[in-house]
Amino acid sequence: MDESHVEGDLVDILYSEKQIQDRLAELARRIEDDYEGRELLLVGVLKGAVMVMADLARQFNRHVEMDWMAISSYGAGTKSSGVVRILKDLDTDINGRNVLVVEDIIDTGLTLSWLVSNLSSRGPASVEICTLLRKPEAQQMSVDVKYVGYDIPDAFVVGYGLDFNEKYRNLRSVGTLAPHVYS
Ligand code: PRP
Repeated sequence: MDESHVEGDLVDILYSEKQIQDRLAELARRIEDDYEGRELLLVGVLKGAVMVMADLARQFNRHVEMDWMAISSYGAGTKSSGVVRILKDLDTDINGRNVLVVEDIIDTGLTLSWLVSNLSSRGPASVEICTLLRKPEAQQMSVDVKYVGYDIPDAFVVGYGLDFNEKYRNLRSVGTLAPHVYS
């Protein structure tokens, strides 16, 4: 792993490339067991989920299909508003399908609450959520998250899909951003 170009930008590494891959492998085995004998559609939420989707999908020893949504929060207060608009919808009709939403992080849980209710209205056989990271506030939300990689502290994390001003997404690990970068 060479992430020397961001040396000093990160306070610490929360999860290394290996830790992430090992955890995704564990989740994939559980998902394979749970969906045995049933088709499975993975729905990635752009852009953060790109890395999780790519690596989780390649852990499966079974057929899966993949589709994508791009969504955005309205307004300046973005994260707190809970109002979401669809920038790119699914290509797939999910009526009767088993949908597994794949996310990089659940922070307030507002995005997922909205997304699960939106997808559920389309008549799928099931909708479940898999996220690599979950912050403390999200644990109080009403939406049940079936597959969680790691519960993390409430810090500004970047890497492995997670950005600050669109940068750091391409890091192989997840780290805590140093306050001097964003303040
Ligand atoms: C992140 C993440 C989730 C959402 C979670 O996406 O990928 O979709 O925030 O936040 P919440 O639980 O508070 O709703 P972001 O809006 O940063 O877009 P991105 O994936 O394009 O980076």
